[in-house]
Amino acid sequence: MKFNHKGFTGIVNVLALSGVLLCFGSQAIAEEYDEDTYGPEAPIVFDKPVKGVDFSHKVHTMDAGLECDSCHDEIFQMEAGAAESAGDYNMKSLYEAKYCGACHDGDTAFASNTQCASCHKDVAAIEPHGDIIQTKPVKAVVFSHKRHTEEAGLDCGSCHDEIYQMQNGAAAANGDYTMQSLYEGKYCGACHDGDTAFASNTRCTVCHIGVKGFDRLHGEPKTDAHGGH
Ligand code: HEC
Ligand code: HEC
Ligand code: HEC
Ligand code: HEC
Ligand code: HEC
Ligand code: HEC
Repeated sequence: MKFNHKGFTGIVNVLALSGVLLCFGSQAIAEEYDEDTYGPEAPIVFDKPVKGVDFSHKVHTMDAGLECDSCHDEIFQMEAGAAESAGDYNMKSLYEAKYCGACHDGDTAFASNTQCASCHKDVAAIEPHGDIIQTKPVKAVVFSHKRHTEEAGLDCGSCHDEIYQMQNGAAAANGDYTMQSLYEGKYCGACHDGDTAFASNTRCTVCHIGVKGFDRLHGEPKTDAHGGH
């Protein structure tokens, strides 16, 4: 990654401007944005696979002092839409240090598994609203995002991506999605340990809504109406 001297000049200007502001008070003064020097002025908006991720050249070149070639053409092509058509433009790639993740790794810039809303201007587009019902290995365990984020006040980053991937069914595919793992502090058990939240070896039916609960949620007829299975 390279920093240009314009970034430095920018800082000097800011210092000079704060001096001016101190002397003259209210007048807001902004440095002129020059597209030849800093890249396209309008934010680039990514809408695939989820809506509303903004990328600002200004933030990265004029403010952070990055050169064009710290991104072009190794990380991003100089063509809006190229990354979106590559087929792997997702959080997993970012966590593997591709695309934005080449810098957004918690070192060069804030990490991609934090501050979701800084990049996702439309957080509602990624927020799963309904409950997630897990059916493997047993039917059925309910997980409510609302209960954990809005009500318990947890950040997305407290579960994603270290405890759970952002993909329904990913944990179930691991082969160790069992109560034993929970008791060992994995998955739900990372918090449901009797300390951060109620313990995994208590209140079975709060998590386990069972086959009947599953059928109810999916609007299937009650088994007794059919004389049972
Ligand atoms: C921090 C990374 C980064 C830096 C630094 C950067 N760009 Fe970009 N640039 C992007 C991204 C991301 C895109 C969108 C690429 C895509 O959609 O695949 C882009 C796209 C572009 C486009 C195409 C816009 C369009 O509408 O088709 C131009 C032109 C461009 N950049 C010029 C520049 C210039 C000039 C500089 C240096 C002054 C620069 N960029 C620096 C990340 C960067
Ligand atoms: C070449 C390195 C690099 C790449 C690639 C990169 N960034 Fe950044 N980004 C930075 C640096 C450096 C900063 C400033 C330091 C910080 O905020 O942590 C920054 C800051 C930001 C900010 C904070 C803006 C603010 O409000 O202050 C956002 C949002 C952002 N980047 C989004 C993105 C997105 C989205 C992508 C991919 C499309 C991306 N970045 C790719 C280096 C990079
Ligand atoms: C540095 C910027 C950045 C940060 C921080 C970030 N994302 Fe993303 N995210 C992107 C980009 C870029 C894409 C791909 C473009 C698109 O979908 O519009 C994406 C795509 C996604 C997708 C759809 C693809 C997939 O991987 O399933 C989800 C879901 C998502 N992000 C959730 C999150 C959550 C939750 C957080 C916080 C834990 C987060 N993102 C933080 C930039 C970011
Ligand atoms: C307390 C833990 C926890 C928190 C906090 C959390 N999630 Fe999740 N999330 C999960 C679990 C569990 C799954 C299902 C994963 C699996 O089946 O392996 C999931 C799945 C997802 C999925 C995939 C949904 C689907 O249908 O495939 C998305 C998108 C997602 N989470 C986004 C978010 C966002 C955005 C936030 C913050 C607003 C967030 N999550 C906060 C635990 C959490
Ligand atoms: C990052 C920590 C964390 C993880 C991981 C987590 N939870 Fe929770 N959970 C909490 C907290 C905190 C509360 C609220 C305090 C409490 O009820 O003990 C809560 C509450 C709940 C409740 C509500 C109980 C009630 O009385 O309303 C249920 C049900 C629940 N969690 C199920 C799960 C399931 C199922 C998983 C795994 C798929 C899971 N949780 C993963 C932290 C977590
Ligand atoms: C914090 C939530 C939570 C609590 C509390 C909980 N479980 Fe589970 N349980 C899960 C999850 C998540 C799975 C794996 C997903 C699935 O099977 O649908 C699971 C799976 C299981 C399984 C199948 C896998 C295995 O370990 O054999 C059994 C049996 C089970 N639970 C029994 C219980 C019993 C009995 C209790 C009460 C002593 C209990 N659970 C309490 C979340 C919970």
